[in-house]
Amino acid sequence: MTESMTPLDIEIRRRIDAAGPMPVGQYMALCLADPQHGYYVTRDPLGARGDFTTAPEVSQMFGELIGLWVVAVWHQMGKPENVRIVELGPGRGTMMKDALRAAKVMPGFLDAAVLHLVEINPVLQAIQEQTLAGSHVPQFWHKTLNEVPRGPAIVVANEFFDALPIDQAIKMTDGWHRRTIGIGDDGNLKYVIDEAPLPRFETTLPAALHAAEDGEIFEWRSDTETMDLGRRLARDPGAALIVDYGHSESSTGDTLQAVRDHVFADPLAAAGEADLTAHVDFEAMSRTLEAMGTQVYGPLAQAAFLSRLGIDSRAAKLKSAGSREQAHQIDSAMARLTGFGRTGMGSLFKVIACTNPSLPVPPAFES
Ligand SMILES: C[S@@+](CC[C@H](N)C(=O)[O-])C[C@H]1O[C@@H](n2cnc3c(N)ncnc32)[C@H](O)[C@@H]1O
Repeated sequence: MTESMTPLDIEIRRRIDAAGPMPVGQYMALCLADPQHGYYVTRDPLGARGDFTTAPEVSQMFGELIGLWVVAVWHQMGKPENVRIVELGPGRGTMMKDALRAAKVMPGFLDAAVLHLVEINPVLQAIQEQTLAGSHVPQFWHKTLNEVPRGPAIVVANEFFDALPIDQAIKMTDGWHRRTIGIGDDGNLKYVIDEAPLPRFETTLPAALHAAEDGEIFEWRSDTETMDLGRRLARDPGAALIVDYGHSESSTGDTLQAVRDHVFADPLAAAGEADLTAHVDFEAMSRTLEAMGTQVYGPLAQAAFLSRLGIDSRAAKLKSAGSREQAHQIDSAMARLTGFGRTGMGSLFKVIACTNPSLPVPPAFES
């Protein structure tokens, strides 16, 4: 068993031997962000040669439309000087590069903008520095949103929150029990259920889940990043746009998944070598953002959001200016970004906006 183990597999087993089964959230945090071996610290996971592809990597149209949203919000804010354009988890910097190119349509925006990129991955940070080198906008990198200086801000995040750790509980006859990770007789990691129920756990659940049946799994994510975002936007002028995959209403289900080389893998194998993610619970996220004092809009399905921002006419324009081969690529990008089939992101991915209450309804969220 030990032959094929990653350094993190060994470390996780050492910790379980010493302290007993590990909460799913702790396991996920180690796999993704362990400072030495974590998945998001050691590599560029994106693109054909990585493990997965995201919307900005599918087509320039995605980042361009986000850029148009950003400048429209800046206009709604009264065009403040020194506006912080913050991206959480910027990947290769592709979305921001495309957004800044599109943002040139708004006179004065690029002179007012200062980029703040929140990233824990040194490999990706180096790529972001290269990607954004020609953008002529001041750029700063931070490990957390809280390090970004206060002031007017527009925050964007694509596939950031799904990479933050979740915890899980399972419904049993005597209440909800925490789901943890232990070591099986064969030496492999396996799910274990804590013996004692979590005290008063049902009181924290949305009412619709009080009728959950035995065996159903509920997932929750630490609110820290969402609370930081909400607190900031309630205090200072600004808005945020969050795009991610997940469900509009809190519900049950085991959504923890691992992806490696573009195929699903076992989340409990090869720790630190696969991308681990779980659905974003947009209802829980919206409740937290509202509790912090912001105004929340959506969720909208990604297809509806991109359509309201004009993806059809952008695609038509790009097609008319390109070759047949390029037109074909744009058609397949459209199918990926807005389609509803198995590989389409159109409905699985959702978008919410959150604003300082003084701002009007942000673009695309008008009813
Ligand atoms: C799934 S990738 C998405 C990248 C990019 N937004 C895109 O759409 O292509 C997640 C991004 O968040 C970063 N990341 C993951 N966990 C993070 C954390 N806890 N704090 C800051 N950045 C994080 C990753 O390094 C990566 O840049």
